[in-house]
Amino acid sequence: MDRKAALLNSEPSPPEYETFLSHAGKQLEAEEIRQVQEKDAARTAAGKSIIAMSSGLPNAQGFPIIEADFRLRDGSVLHLDEEQMNIASNYGPTAGYVPLREWLLKLQKQEHQPPQLTRPNHPEGFKLAVTAGAFDGLRSFIYCLMDKEDSIILEDEVYCSVTSMVKLHGSAVPISHDDKGVLVDDLEELMSTWPQKYPDRPRPKALYAITAGNNPRGYNWTEDRMVDIYLLCRKHNLLIIEDGAYYFMQFGQVRNTVK
Ligand SMILES: Cc1ncc(COP(=O)(O)O)c(C=O)c1O
Repeated sequence: MDRKAALLNSEPSPPEYETFLSHAGKQLEAEEIRQVQEKDAARTAAGKSIIAMSSGLPNAQGFPIIEADFRLRDGSVLHLDEEQMNIASNYGPTAGYVPLREWLLKLQKQEHQPPQLTRPNHPEGFKLAVTAGAFDGLRSFIYCLMDKEDSIILEDEVYCSVTSMVKLHGSAVPISHDDKGVLVDDLEELMSTWPQKYPDRPRPKALYAITAGNNPRGYNWTEDRMVDIYLLCRKHNLLIIEDGAYYFMQFGQVRNTVK
């Protein structure tokens, strides 16, 4: 069995995610109005005819766009009918449009086979939220993770907007890399000597990594390096924020689509 398969078959105990949250992250609660909307949607789905006054959904009669055609580069046309356009124009669940989330879950399962999705009763479960782009997801995540005294480890050459965002909330700790990923010995040294070197600073909470198509250098991590760094992060209780913005960018290969 290769190293990745052995890892996927191991049963690590999940980290205590709540302990990583910032003060703001701990305060966040599901918005009440969204809960009301979800109950209304469930009633409508169950065939009940309701006029929902409480959840603040605008009346579709007032939406200015009724339907749309998008002409795609492959020559096909994507048509949104009136019903689909009404859904697109209205408020929806906070975590994203449910059919899209279901499709994305299938994609995750097919592409990565995470044990949280493939093994029944996995203790961690698997959650997925749709954001308005990769950077919006990162921004929300950093907001929920970092207070002023907190830090995140970033490669010394990395997507500059992430550095600015991390510095806005806390601080960035640089780590060296070669063309296979972050250097294992450097990360081990950083984490194991942190309490002696910085006794007044909390240990870094996370490692941010662009493992495919690094911005700005364009390199890909090797699988072996990913396994080494994953094991180190587990040992030192470090979260991994993997930014896969370029994961699906391929040259000369056609990928299977998810059914
Ligand atoms: C590594 C990386 N992540 C995220 C982004 C931003 O992605 P989005 O446009 O989806 O917010 C970029 C854009 O340059 C990027 O290079």
